[in-house]
Amino acid sequence: MSNNEKRLAGEAAIRYVDDGAIVGVGTGSTVAYFIDALADLRDRIQGAVSSSEQSTAQLKKHGIPVLDLNATGPLSLYVDGADECDPYKRLIKGGGAALTREKIIAEASEKFICVIDSSKRVDLLGKFPLPIEVIPMARSLVGREIAKRGGQPVWRDGVVTDNGNWVIDVHGWQIADPAALENDLNQIPGIVAVGLFARRPANIVLIGDQLMD
Ligand code: A5P
Repeated sequence: MSNNEKRLAGEAAIRYVDDGAIVGVGTGSTVAYFIDALADLRDRIQGAVSSSEQSTAQLKKHGIPVLDLNATGPLSLYVDGADECDPYKRLIKGGGAALTREKIIAEASEKFICVIDSSKRVDLLGKFPLPIEVIPMARSLVGREIAKRGGQPVWRDGVVTDNGNWVIDVHGWQIADPAALENDLNQIPGIVAVGLFARRPANIVLIGDQLMD
């Protein structure tokens, strides 16, 4: 992992921010550099829609208005990090437990720019344990369903998401068909969101300040 690449990626994403925009903002150490850079544009944008309490605090510290997605309508731009990225710009996200709001904002946005360092690039998703947000009472049920599918579910004990839910990290999956797995898991009652971004991948990936092909 390179903090310098994270900084370069976060800062490079600034060039996609248009005057007057409402910017969707993800969560994590890479996006933190983007938020710091966005502070310089604060007077040229309308504000941001935030994916976590953590990012909201950082945005507010910089005096950037934080807006409600219900009031903004669709967004032109979303900037967020990832835990893994494959050659098709499909992602694993949720290492910071913010996956559900991240997924909502990605879905609401026309363009999703993913900012990563080179350690996140993989050929096949799954080495990073796949985060899944669950309603607390469904933890065991969801764990059994994951085990039936060959995964090893590990409860992220002690972590409560911004939505009041829990996170299961699934080890041991080599994800050959991410969209099929995402669709399958989305059918299990009690799963709030799966940290696979395959149905809605990134549009642009910045590795440091370089565009991924
Ligand atoms: C947050 O829940 C995640 O989806 C982050 O986007 C992801 O973990 C990347 O974080 P870093 O930028 O800190 O590596």
